[in-house]
Amino acid sequence: MKKLPTHIAFIMDGNRRWAVRRGLSKMLGHKKGAEVLVNVIKELSKINDIKYASFFAFSTENWNREQKEIDAIFQLVEEMFERHEQEFHNLNIKFVVMGDISRFPVAMQEKLIKVQENSKNNSGLTVLLALNYGGRDDIVQAVNKLLKKNYKSVTEEDIAKNLLSYPAPDIDFLIRTSREQRISNFMLFQLAYSEMYFPKYYWPDFNKKRLEKALKIYSKRNRRFGGN
Ligand code: FPP
Repeated sequence: MKKLPTHIAFIMDGNRRWAVRRGLSKMLGHKKGAEVLVNVIKELSKINDIKYASFFAFSTENWNREQKEIDAIFQLVEEMFERHEQEFHNLNIKFVVMGDISRFPVAMQEKLIKVQENSKNNSGLTVLLALNYGGRDDIVQAVNKLLKKNYKSVTEEDIAKNLLSYPAPDIDFLIRTSREQRISNFMLFQLAYSEMYFPKYYWPDFNKKRLEKALKIYSKRNRRFGGN
């Protein structure tokens, strides 16, 4: 493929609908969603041109869900690293968590800190995991960091350099599964000129073949960035 994204992002939507359609519990939808996430990370790490992959795993609005469901998602995050951290490491993958993790269970926080620490010198794919993340909040925290350094006015570049995703560049390609065509307060600043793709299938049905199809679609897009 002639043109691939440097930074790809995913809104992993539709886990519960996938489960409900099959008469399964919603938790099983998230379980399958987590398996798909692991496979996608592994696949992306093998594509040299893709350097960054961002995933919306838990939004600031997801706290409104039933506690049982929230706990199941937290457990899946922990399990993912317990089972796959070594494999990810062997694939030279670096993990960065974006968002306020202080509200998460202590064991999960510790795991997330360790995973970032253990992978910080890896030079392959960087995976940015958005957990308790909000796009507006990301911009606000960047501005507050600058105010603390006594900036009187800020430029776009100043903000870009203080986002939670820095030094990842702007997102080139966003995929949101399950037909919904919204950004849902994901990485608002980083998505300014992103190409977007909204396939109909639910996240648990995403796979290697569909990733390849999505990348093919991206490679045919004509990006003009507001110019000719
Ligand atoms: C969206 O589907 C999914 C989420 C809000 C959570 C994403 C979680 C995972 C992919 C699994 C666990 C995460 C990790 C990082 C291992 P939905 O629940 O909104 O489904 P719906 O749109 O059908 O209701």
